[in-house]
Amino acid sequence: MTAGSDRGVDMRTQVGTVALSNPVLTASGTAGRATELGAYMELADLGAVVVKSLSAAPWPGNPAPRVHPTPAGMLNSVGLQGPGIRAWLADDLPALVERGATVVASIWGRSVDEFASAAGMLAGARGVVAVEVNVSCPNVEDRSRMFAHSPEATAAAVDAAGRAGLPLWVKLSPNVPDLVGIAGAAIGAGAEALVLVNTVLGMAIDPRRRAYRLGSGAAGGGLSGPAIRPIAVRAVHDCRAAFPTIGIVGVGGIARGVDAAEMLVAGADAVEVGTATFADPRAPAVVLRQLRRWCARHRVRSVRDLVGSVHQGQPVVPLATEHAAVAGMPEAGGVEPGSISDGPGPGASRPEVVPVVGTEEPGAQAGDAVLLARVRATLDAIDQRVALQAEQVGHLADAMTALAAALGSERTGGDPGGAAGRDQSGAPDGPGQAAERPA
Ligand SMILES: Cc1cc2nc3c(=O)[nH]c(=O)nc-3n(C[C@H](O)[C@H](O)[C@H](O)COP(=O)(O)O)c2cc1C
Repeated sequence: MTAGSDRGVDMRTQVGTVALSNPVLTASGTAGRATELGAYMELADLGAVVVKSLSAAPWPGNPAPRVHPTPAGMLNSVGLQGPGIRAWLADDLPALVERGATVVASIWGRSVDEFASAAGMLAGARGVVAVEVNVSCPNVEDRSRMFAHSPEATAAAVDAAGRAGLPLWVKLSPNVPDLVGIAGAAIGAGAEALVLVNTVLGMAIDPRRRAYRLGSGAAGGGLSGPAIRPIAVRAVHDCRAAFPTIGIVGVGGIARGVDAAEMLVAGADAVEVGTATFADPRAPAVVLRQLRRWCARHRVRSVRDLVGSVHQGQPVVPLATEHAAVAGMPEAGGVEPGSISDGPGPGASRPEVVPVVGTEEPGAQAGDAVLLARVRATLDAIDQRVALQAEQVGHLADAMTALAAALGSERTGGDPGGAAGRDQSGAPDGPGQAAERPA
């Protein structure tokens, strides 16, 4: 189902100069080596597969445990473990290309030179359409302060990534007071798209053991999942308001089609699905299917109609339409619902949503419109219930894993005094132990 206009909805979009068959992508680091997902969906059907952040050389990441479930998401301290770009080019990229996936390579580094090396190794890589520059990693040249927390360091990393000769997307951290300022610095250095956002700094402590829950110890981890969706929506919204023509990819807590629709309306050209994949490996395909259905149900002909539409203050299906129908008010016809003034593309003008002032169906009776509205609301409610249940199943699975691990560690003597936490909080030696921790 790679077609751009399945079931009458044109799903094609564009991020910067990169045209995509649809706006649903995987989020870096949440899909293993990405080929595993091929067992659950056709990778070619996704807008793109964004792979786990890669550094020029192999990197071991952080000690276990690396993930911990939270009430509305999860904490992780994976620490950017990876095989290095040379091994990835030889072992993983060919399989992705063979499956027809559109590949975005995410890179990171501990210094500007490391970003340049990583980018240089990707130059000419067959099948890679863009480089996502993950600046949520410690800069060893600046007391391990995250690149993403400084406009200058972010700009330097993006500039260095230019060595790849590919379109540059920069993935920013929400843990800053002036995200728009940092985004501006990245754009000034050559980024043609912003990926918003990486995880939110967090921590979990086991009070009984007086110990950190994550192996990263005092450095904590990154929070992801539904808990951070409002943060991501706000980031996308504010950056879209500041940069009307830049590419934007929204990421954070997207688990349902309606979540993706919200992100697009806020200003994203595309979305990435991350933590939801842990509860259900089919999550990106599910979000895509639900988004397509949501668009069809809400008379959205092209997903581009949604992009940034909140900034125009014009609902795609104005509530007034349904109220008018309910009240049996006269209906004005002749305007195509949700029609747009321009096609996909990052051009100067965002798609303009033409307000719908007529009924849902030309010539439909008020009663039909009420019925349609009710059916739509019921389908939305079912969608939400199904997504919630999938999430709850995921939490149960997480809880069982945690329980099994806890029972195992108690049986083997455990770590009641918090030795794991103490051991992990030793001297910083790079991302594995640094003061600011990469996800
Ligand atoms: C286990 C895990 C590993 C991650 N690894 C990376 C990574 O390697 N590079 C990166 O840019 N973001 C990484 N992220 C952040 C996600 O790509 C995403 O930005 C974040 O989780 C928010 O989206 P979500 O709520 O849909 O997961 C990781 C997140 C998780 C949960």
